[in-house]
Amino acid sequence: MQPGLLLAFEDETQAAEALASALGLPMALVARHRFPDGECRLRLPPVLPERLLLLRGLQQPNEKLVELLITLPAARALGARQIVLVSPYLAYMRQDMAFAPGEAVSQRHIAALLAGQVDGLITVDPHLHRIASLDEVMPGCRGVALSAAPLLGAWVAQQVPGALLLGPDEEALQWVAAAGLAHGLEHAVCHKQRLGDREVRVALPDLPLRGRAVVLMDDVASTGRTLVEAATAALAAGAATVDVAVTHALFVGDALAQLRAAGVRHVWSSNAVPHATAVVPITALLAAAVRAF
Ligand code: R5P
Repeated sequence: MQPGLLLAFEDETQAAEALASALGLPMALVARHRFPDGECRLRLPPVLPERLLLLRGLQQPNEKLVELLITLPAARALGARQIVLVSPYLAYMRQDMAFAPGEAVSQRHIAALLAGQVDGLITVDPHLHRIASLDEVMPGCRGVALSAAPLLGAWVAQQVPGALLLGPDEEALQWVAAAGLAHGLEHAVCHKQRLGDREVRVALPDLPLRGRAVVLMDDVASTGRTLVEAATAALAAGAATVDVAVTHALFVGDALAQLRAAGVRHVWSSNAVPHATAVVPITALLAAAVRAF
């Protein structure tokens, strides 16, 4: 795809500038106004090219989804015929089954909602656990799921040679395996039981950890409790050091403080979500995917 413009929002200006520059594209921002009652008014460039690239990560998902659902049809009304959405963090992907009777499978519904509005979607490490690809939940839309795991693996291999990559739950196997195999690092996963939003139990794999440099790797850290439990267990089992590397640094509330208190040494993330811990850029990965679209 050769888009005519990259459209983005001002809170992602840095990521947008980097992507626009990598693709040699002009860039424009959507101007946002928040009314006293919480509604928003959005202003797009009055004339848009036929092929539009839109950058919008969905951290703080509800507010941004509403903005997106206004921006997309507005962009079509202003001239865009083909829209590819680059959403480095795609929210709602973890709610991928009804865990209790009557529970909405949000993954399917949010993905279908977006699929109805865009021609293509490029994202990074969406939480695909019970489905193999985005196509299963995005009818009529081409979905591309990239992974930052090999890039995180390269960073870890450089910072902590010989590290053991440890996924805090079985779902993380895809990421530790990709990173480990690409950079010659051993990998394993824990077993996790979730009891509530901030309550999880993590059981270590049957592997000697004494004296090992452990790097916990996951797709997303939200409250950080999954990583806290895994770090606590690894240190109790004799790990020499525990660091953390995640693709999506949500780290809500006191997550980072809890990780430090648990004895975690370094916290690293990709810049899929703008965050103070971001050390691994994914711009080149996104740009290559746009070019190949
Ligand atoms: C779910 O399996 C994800 O991969 C993460 O492990 C999870 O979302 C982390 O959540 P929290 O940081 O709140 O424990």
